[in-house]
Amino acid sequence: VLLSLSTWPEVEAYLRNCDAIVVPIGSTEQHGPNGLIGTDAICAEHVACGVGGRTGVLVAPTISVGMAAHHMAFPGSMSHTPTVLISIVREQVMALAAHGFRNFFFVNGHGGNIATINSAFAEIHALRWQAGLPAIRCQLANWWDPAGVAELSQEYYGDVEGSHATASEIAITRHLFPDHAKNVVLDPAVAPTGEFHDAADFRQRFPDGRIGSNPGLSEAKHGERILQSAIAGLVEMLRVFIAMKGA
Ligand code: NI
Repeated sequence: VLLSLSTWPEVEAYLRNCDAIVVPIGSTEQHGPNGLIGTDAICAEHVACGVGGRTGVLVAPTISVGMAAHHMAFPGSMSHTPTVLISIVREQVMALAAHGFRNFFFVNGHGGNIATINSAFAEIHALRWQAGLPAIRCQLANWWDPAGVAELSQEYYGDVEGSHATASEIAITRHLFPDHAKNVVLDPAVAPTGEFHDAADFRQRFPDGRIGSNPGLSEAKHGERILQSAIAGLVEMLRVFIAMKGA
């Protein structure tokens, strides 16, 4: 159930039985020549909605813009600075905590968010302790963490899954938005790999925006299985997280 499609009396009733909420967080950034700019937010949102649907845990609005400074040399990419993203995460958690939510399960769709989300959690814990507020528990789960997701990506794509504009994430968007699948020739088929320093350096080393991937292999039917595997894996992580409450 989505928070946005609930009424306040429904949320009041929900909080009598459950103080957990799922928070999708993604990014709005280039994903190569055939990847949608919203890929990371789309994947996080749909995995989170699947987890909410299977568990009955409410799903908060998606935080759609993340920390993507290194993608800013490609048109359409958006990014918050780490300090602003920390503030966004902190303020949204504190707003929900004011109503009694205590257990926050973040479903992340962008590797570049991880350090900032963990910093936000550290800030939340420090501030709530200083203020003498009740304990708030936060967990970060990336949709690609479950072993089943890695197995499928290995089966379908092997070494050309890549690390940005991955074949798996583009397959998920092709499953969810078939009318927006972009059929463009990728040249080279497999993108280069390596390190980068900043946005300009990223574009120079990875001219079409991909790192190590061949999302020309991405098919909607793969995406459907990867999405379901991610949901199943994160349902288990959420159940463990909630069961550990107060332990
Ligand atoms: Ni991505």
